[in-house]
Amino acid sequence: MAVVTIVGAGVIGVSWARLFGAAGWEVRVSDPRPDLADLVARELADLPVTATADLAAAATGADFVQEAGPERIEIKEQMFATLAVHTRDDVVLASSSSSLLPSAIARGNPAAGRIVVGHPFNPPELMPLVEVVPGPRTSEATVDRASEVYRRLGKLPVRLKKEIPGFVGNRLQKVFNDQAVHLVQQGVIDVRDLDDLVRASLGLRWATVGPFESGVLGGGPGGMRHLAAHVGSQLTFETGSADPARQGEVLDAVEEAYGTGEAAYERLAALRDGRTRAVLEPLGWTAPGAEAAPGTGSAPGAGH
Ligand SMILES: NC(=O)c1ccc[n+]([C@@H]2O[C@H](COP(=O)([O-])OP(=O)(O)OC[C@H]3O[C@@H](n4cnc5c(N)ncnc54)[C@H](O)[C@@H]3O)[C@@H](O)[C@H]2O)c1
Repeated sequence: MAVVTIVGAGVIGVSWARLFGAAGWEVRVSDPRPDLADLVARELADLPVTATADLAAAATGADFVQEAGPERIEIKEQMFATLAVHTRDDVVLASSSSSLLPSAIARGNPAAGRIVVGHPFNPPELMPLVEVVPGPRTSEATVDRASEVYRRLGKLPVRLKKEIPGFVGNRLQKVFNDQAVHLVQQGVIDVRDLDDLVRASLGLRWATVGPFESGVLGGGPGGMRHLAAHVGSQLTFETGSADPARQGEVLDAVEEAYGTGEAAYERLAALRDGRTRAVLEPLGWTAPGAEAAPGTGSAPGAGH
């Protein structure tokens, strides 16, 4: 059985562990949190998972490493330094980082050729995308191997041509979310209505066609060129941006709309996961857990 070491048992690490475990990997989870054993018993019951605070021990003998620790460069540098020493020289060391450059994570690391970002969207066990971001020293073999592992997990690995902070998904999300906060701060719309507006329009659209393909369709037979000249040419207004000094007001409004704490999280996550599961297969994505064990999988996302 192939062995994966998951570093960090937070929101992302636990979800990766479920995904790898359900796909037939032996999973080792490493995290210094004192409640690690309870967490694994509660969240990863019935899966082939072992847990330890000792990263070196968890990494020894691994065939693949997926790091999901804190988003702090100094912590990642330290974790990858340990991983470099305690893994074979053919083992991919992938970071789930949302924004940090792989070249920064690999700074001074003798295993830089094996270090790559494999950035999932939350929750990795359901969302098809993994952004594969090589640094300048990442080897082709590392990119290929990481992409192959993600594909066999039923994911869609999308490789970036070069590194950039925030990669592609989170750069787009940053611009979009900034405008959402700005519109609430300006008193144009409230939190729940903005979420409903997006779910009923852009969210549904982008689950079926991407923004460029949507541009082609929006222009009719004249395509995106017609849309750009016709509608696009009139979108000349300044969009403005969110005021960081007033972020607290928006956070208060979000908490008032959705609640906070364990019970609210569980309820919202269950709603999101149920809806996501319901649309994955009809949209042509591989059903979670449908992939076989490592070495026997097939390409996901038929038709994409
Ligand atoms: N939350 C998201 O939506 C999301 C999405 C995609 C990627 N990511 C990325 O995934 C990574 C993890 O994010 P998260 O949201 O799961 O964070 P989290 O705070 O939920 O979990 C981080 C975990 O790392 C553990 N940890 C701390 N020091 C450690 C060490 N030295 N070794 C091992 N584990 C250690 C913590 O105890 C904690 O359990 C980050 O790099 C983040 O940018 C997050």
